[in-house]
Amino acid sequence: MRKSIIVFSIFCFIFSGSFFCKNYALAHNGQFVGKRHVAVEQDPNALNTKKVVFLTGAAGFIGSNFLQYMFDKYEEYHFIVLDVITYAGNIENIPDYIRNSDRFEFFYGSVTNYQIVEMLMKRADLVVHFAAESHVTRSICDDTTFFDTDVMGTRVMMTALVKYAKKVQRFIHISTSEVLGTAESEPMDEDHPINPRSPYAAAKAGADRLVYSYFCTYDVPAVIVRPFNNYGPRQHLEKVIARFISSAIQKKPLTIHGDGMQERDWLHTYDLCRALDRILHIEDFSKLKHQVFHIGSGVPTSILQIAKTVLQAFDLPEEYITFIGDRPGQVRRHISSTKKACDLLGWKAEISLKEGLQHNIEWYKNNQSYWEKMSHMQYVPIYTNDATLDLH
Ligand SMILES: NC(=O)c1ccc[n+]([C@@H]2O[C@H](COP(=O)([O-])OP(=O)(O)OC[C@H]3O[C@@H](n4cnc5c(N)ncnc54)[C@H](O)[C@@H]3O)[C@@H](O)[C@H]2O)c1
Repeated sequence: MRKSIIVFSIFCFIFSGSFFCKNYALAHNGQFVGKRHVAVEQDPNALNTKKVVFLTGAAGFIGSNFLQYMFDKYEEYHFIVLDVITYAGNIENIPDYIRNSDRFEFFYGSVTNYQIVEMLMKRADLVVHFAAESHVTRSICDDTTFFDTDVMGTRVMMTALVKYAKKVQRFIHISTSEVLGTAESEPMDEDHPINPRSPYAAAKAGADRLVYSYFCTYDVPAVIVRPFNNYGPRQHLEKVIARFISSAIQKKPLTIHGDGMQERDWLHTYDLCRALDRILHIEDFSKLKHQVFHIGSGVPTSILQIAKTVLQAFDLPEEYITFIGDRPGQVRRHISSTKKACDLLGWKAEISLKEGLQHNIEWYKNNQSYWEKMSHMQYVPIYTNDATLDLH
């Protein structure tokens, strides 16, 4: 009897989180894997329930990571993706085992097309709207498509949601911390003023407030999420962490806008996936409906510090850093409040920047043939504050 109690105790210890000194590890598919974060208040039946999940923009960076996270976790769910595969999208971002599965359907098309959006919304139980033009610098270079996709595309999504508001259980609109502009108070909570400082941020602010207006006017079952700066596998080389890592691998200079002291709140995309999962599965949706959530780590780190950390990881000297003119409309500082997400979602970021960067560096080292094809898009030409044309 005593022996079996000891064996049982060892078994419990091994399978409790305490056995793992680290929660996360690099999985064969390049994703973080770790403890299943099924909180008590989450829908206990979700894992065995059949649902149709409609994702827009899931051939992009965050959407594809979220698709993979959900596909692996909810084995009964069926996934439909709508993506028009812009320069930032890539069907190869969706792993083969998902593309070949009968639980997955891909629709090539734009969120600005009501016919296709309506057809897919009709089938959906859960919706996450990621599709957008998403790069600040590119919006300074040429903002023509930003308003069409980010604002008008969101209008189409909301119009279709109104039609199927009784069928769709939850809709998450992916906004961004960029809508807030530079921190006026810290940490930046959900009541922070909206002061977009780039055409991208303005387009996303338009979409963010459009969704809010649909809360008020049509009582749609929706939530707004404003993620802070995400990084992780499959991020486009135009985004700063992916650009630094790929430049270091290629032994090219790491270009920094201005003095590099701009601070951002960096969030590993796996942590964002966990937060979105909670919003979709917390049992009592009435507490979440019509809320805005800031999803960030609560820790600010400068761009210069990120560049130095990346160079250290590659054993390269700081001479690889090249300072160029600052980006017009630069945001000086971003730091997310974590209180509301913690109180209502029971969520906080769990992957430290150190751990996340190490993982990301490994990913870019191991997937060079995938991202090298995008090297010509690492930089965007813009006129900077001193009126010189720089590659940003
Ligand atoms: N990356 C970040 O740090 C970050 C931070 C906060 C918020 N966001 C937001 O998260 C979302 C996803 O960001 P990301 O970094 O994965 O972007 P991304 O640029 O990597 O991917 C965007 C995806 O949307 C698709 N798309 C673009 N226009 C479309 C259209 N008209 N119809 C259908 N699909 C279209 C693209 O083909 C691409 O697959 C965006 O809404 C972005 O504003 C991103």
